[in-house]
Parts: sequence; C-alpha cells; structure tokens
Amino acid sequence: MDKNKAKKEIEKLRKDINYHNHKYYVENSPIISDFEFDKLLSRLEELEKIFPDLITSDSPTQRVGGEPLEGFTTVEHKVAMLSLDNTYNYNELRDFDKRIKKTVENIEYVVEPKIDGVGVALLYENSIFIRGTTRGDGVRGDDISSNLKTIHSIPLRLMGNKLNNVEVRGEVYMSLKGFKKLNNEQKKKGNPIFANPRNATAGSIRQLDPRIVESRPLDIFIYFLSYSDKEFSTHFEAIKLLKDAGFRVNPLIEKVNDIEGVIEYCKKLEKRRETLDYEIDGAVIKVNSYAQQKKLGETSKNPRWAISYKFAAKQSTTKLNDIVVQVGRTGTLTPVAILEPVEVGGVTVSRATLHNFDEVKRKDILIGDFVLIERSGDVIPQVVKSISEKRTGEEKKKNIPKKCPICKTDVIREKGEVAVRCPNKLCPARLKWRIRYYASRDAMDIDHLGESTIDKLLDLGLIDNIADLYFLKKDDVLKLEGFKEKSAQNLLDSIEKSKRQDLSRLIYGLGIRHVGKYAAQLIASKYNSIDELSKANEEELREIDGLGEKSAEAIATFFATEENISLIERLKDIGVKTKEAKKDGLPLQGKKFLFTGGLSSLSRPEASDIIKQKGGIVASSISKDIDYVILGDKPGSKYDKAKKMNLKIIDEYEFKNLIS
Ligand code: IVH
Repeated sequence: MDKNKAKKEIEKLRKDINYHNHKYYVENSPIISDFEFDKLLSRLEELEKIFPDLITSDSPTQRVGGEPLEGFTTVEHKVAMLSLDNTYNYNELRDFDKRIKKTVENIEYVVEPKIDGVGVALLYENSIFIRGTTRGDGVRGDDISSNLKTIHSIPLRLMGNKLNNVEVRGEVYMSLKGFKKLNNEQKKKGNPIFANPRNATAGSIRQLDPRIVESRPLDIFIYFLSYSDKEFSTHFEAIKLLKDAGFRVNPLIEKVNDIEGVIEYCKKLEKRRETLDYEIDGAVIKVNSYAQQKKLGETSKNPRWAISYKFAAKQSTTKLNDIVVQVGRTGTLTPVAILEPVEVGGVTVSRATLHNFDEVKRKDILIGDFVLIERSGDVIPQVVKSISEKRTGEEKKKNIPKKCPICKTDVIREKGEVAVRCPNKLCPARLKWRIRYYASRDAMDIDHLGESTIDKLLDLGLIDNIADLYFLKKDDVLKLEGFKEKSAQNLLDSIEKSKRQDLSRLIYGLGIRHVGKYAAQLIASKYNSIDELSKANEEELREIDGLGEKSAEAIATFFATEENISLIERLKDIGVKTKEAKKDGLPLQGKKFLFTGGLSSLSRPEASDIIKQKGGIVASSISKDIDYVILGDKPGSKYDKAKKMNLKIIDEYEFKNLIS
C-alpha cells in the first residue's frame, strides 16, 4: 500500500473515531453501532501495524499503554494548583460576598457541583494531549498521563480551533454504580473493598499498570481553564469553550446574579444530591468575570474569587461498643459493629457491617475503639478505620468464633474463601433467613409475611420450617401481636396464593447456595419439575449453558441432603406447584436478556414478566451468553461491557417489537 494514501486514510479514521468516541463517552448518544465503531478501530490498527512510524501519541489506538510503570515522575504544574477555602453555612457565603464587594462590584457568580473525586490538570499543546498530573503539593504533581489516557471522555486531540494551547482542571471520579460493581468484584476476588468512591478513584488513578486503570469505571468532569494562550473574558464562556473542544463538562453549572441566587442554587443542589449517580460534597462558587478575578487575586493557598460551600459531613467518629456475630442464610458468620449511636449525614447509625473477619483484622478494629464511620451515596454505613491515637489500652480483640453463636456447632472455613460458616443446616439462625428468603419478593413473593412476622411465628414455635407455613391456621396467626381477623386472613390468602408461583421462583426460594434469580431461571427452563431436577447429577447440571460450576455443585449437594428432600416432599403434598410443563415453541424460548438503564413505557418487573411468559430468561449480570442487552435511559457500566463483548444491544423500541 502507498504510504501517502495510508496516511490520508489514517487521518480520516482518527477523525471519525474521535468524533464517535465523543458522541459515545461525552454526549452519551452514539450514532453508530459498536460493531461499526470497532471496525473503524481495527482498520486503524491494521494500517498502523503496516506503518508503525505513522503512530502518534494522540491516536485512538494509544489509549491503553504497554508495560506497567516503575513509578511516577514528578512534574511542575504550568499554573500552581490552589485549593479552595470552605464555607459551611449560608451566612458564611454572605460574608464571602461582602468581602468581594470591597474590591469589585456588579458581580455575577457561576455555581457548580463540587465533585468528590481526585483533582487533575491536563496539558494540551497544539490541541494534542501532552500530559496529565495529580495535584500533588499544588506546585508539583505526579505525571499520570498513561492512566488518564484510559479515560475515554478525555480527548486526546481537541475539537474545533478555539482552544489549542491550554491547561485545564477537572475531577476524576467514579460513579456510584461503578463503585458498587468494583467493590463486588473486589469481594469476589477476596480483595479489600474501598470505603467510598473517592478512595476507589484515588486508588485506581495511582495504579502503575494502565491496564488495571482501564478496567476501573473512572470518568471526569472538567471545570476550569487554568491556562490558555488566547484571551477570554469570563469563566462561563470558558466552560462553553471547554465543552465545544470535546471535554465532559458538568450539566448542572449555572450562572446567577447575586449571592442570594448562589444560596438558592446550593439549596437546590443539596436536594438533587441524592439523585445523582456520583458523589458531590458541596458547591463551588466562582466570580464569573476574569477581569474581576484578576483584581481580587489570591492568597498563598486560595483564590479570593472562589469558595466552596460544603454539605453536612457524611463522616463521624463514635465508639465501637461491641462486635456481634450474625449468622446468615447460608450459614456465613458476619461480624457487625455495635456503635454508640451517631449521626452521619442526617441519619442515626448504631450498627454497621464489618463484612468479614479478614476485614476486621486488616482495618485493625478492636472492641472499645473509636472508629470513623462513613455513609456515602446510598451505600450502607461503613467503618472506615479505627482511630488508634484514642486507644486507652482497654480495647479488646474480637476473635473468630470457633462455634456458631446460635447453635454452637463448630464453624468451618473453606479453602480459598474469606467466609467463616456454620455448617449446621438446621441452625435456627439459618432457618430464619431461609424462611425470609423463601417469602421474599423475588422468590415466592408472599405478601404480609415480613421479617417481623416470620420472627414472631418462629418465636412462638408456630413454624419450624418453610413447609409449616402452609399448615398455619387462622387461630395461630391471631396469636401474633398486631394481627386481627382481616389481617390474619390476608396473610393466609397470600401464603395460599404462593402455591402457584412459577417453578423458577420456587427454585430460587429454596435458597440453594450460588443459585440466584438468573440461575434459577436457567434451571427452570431445562427441567420440568423439582423431581427431575433432584435426579440430575452434577455433570448434567454443568452442561446447562450459562450455569456456573459452583452452582451445579451446590444443587447436587442440596438434593443429596435428606432434610431438603423431605422438605420438597412436604411442599408437594401440601399442593405447592413443583412442576411446570415446558411450553415449547414460545417466541423467546431460552433467550437470555439483560437490562441496562430505565425503560420509559414499562417498569423493569413488568418487562421481565413479559420476557418470562414468552419463555425468555432475565439475567442480572453480564456474561457472554446473553442474547439481548436492552438499552434504556441512563445505562450503567453493563452497557460499556456489552459493547466490549460484542453482545447484541437493542433499544426499547426494538424490544417492544420483539415481544409484540
Ligand atoms: S475549581 C482555583 N471547581 O475541589 C480553582 N474545583 O477544594 C480550582 N473540585 O482542588 C478549583 N469540583 O479538586 C473547582 N467544580 C469544581 C470542583 C472543584 C471539585 C475540587 C478540586 C479542587 C478542590 C478544592
């Protein structure tokens, strides 16, 4: 191939890829399919392979660098990275306004969310991304360019021609969804989990291997033009230019006329805080005019023309009075911190899970310690760390129990697992969870049978196992505190109704280890009845497409257990539906679906029911055997994964066609 021709094609490809990359990662509205996108990228890779000297640092093929680094080099910032002074209430904001008015008048403010992540500076020369750095001490920071390049919403080449030689500032962060997923993966691998999205971001961005960084769900908002070789007159104008140049800019940035407008904005933002998919810890208020900014100047630490307004803290310290041990549905022993009640971000917290005993050891938490508690997003309260400076010497270590705290059976710890478990299948603690699980919404969905009712039934000895539910009489239920004639009948009706639930719900409700909703549907689509399933051996089960080895093993173990077989016999006798003729020839027979994002015309449960009625299966996590990924509004990381895995993605419209 002629090199000149190749060069032209390469340039065209890069331009197109950058354009579609921006559509996808910044605007969230792709206009070509992933397949087409990948085709462009592989063509570019092909040409660059033939002509390696045509590879440039800003080529879209260069996002994930080669070998891990030995360490980061330190570089000096083009412009010092100052931090912001904080305010904590509206009067302090009014004081800020008064201070400013001593120097300048007719002030316009720009207000924006204060993103809770890691601040970085990005340098561009002749529109090409040159370098990205951490804040460091404000004067010098670490060069983390190869890590930042893996974030697709950072342009490697600026669009348009208004910004060429610039330094911009922004915040790298992790969405709440991405954070939860990352922690789930960490847990599965037995790695320590991150206490909050900011820690997860900081930990990710400082990895030496860019390939690890690439796998972390990081994103960035750009909020400040710190240097430009061209002159502009306001911050708001700069924000618009940054957006036009291809940067991802926060959509909630607003211009207001005076400090009362700022306060209104802060009130509004605090309300919106809970609905955002990323953490913010306040608002940032900036004087809009550059001329006024210049007049106001800066102190050695902070600009005088900007300030942050911080929301109420989501961290508090308190005393950890005890560590108790809870026994879960599968017998796992979980240490739980009993805390001196403390308010964290507006909620009183008196208990917090410590996840597992390895975590207690790793965080060095002792009974009697003062601990730092944090609540982030809608995540349950976490014990971040112990405050060892406050120790008196009276603190006590919590040993891993040798016996189950409920039934006193010797506990076990399987090889390679973090969890300590009570192996006694008849342990009363496990029984409680099993019944709760059986009755839960995703399983047999028994209305009016909440946790406290189950606890009362067990306490009064009215039930001893799942099947006993179906033998309850009205007189029994009336013995429970709070139950009257009507409510008792309602409960009995719901229990009766559950006899006719789908086979997949029953399988799920049995609470077999490693058999979640999805696995239960896979199994129900293969077997016509619990009897058939109970006769299947492990090998046969492993052949079910999409079912993991652990699940196959657990099912075989479940049905090899005497008590489980007799439970199923009792359920059958009392009339619980344990078979379901396979309706062959259903339109979606055996097809696997996965949702990402919200649908506009149906709720997820409604759409799931339709899929199941038509013989399809609804998955909750991504895997290579998913047939259709249904793309809704504001999709999560499953969408990115699906594209990478080349799965078929359909929108709501196509989905409705499929089911109509
Ligand atoms: S402006 C000179 N805007 O908060 C002004 N900072 O405590 C530079 N931050 O170091 C900062 N969101 O890492 C600015 N919308 C926003 C921000 C923001 C988060 C971070 C940033 C900065 C720190 C200041």
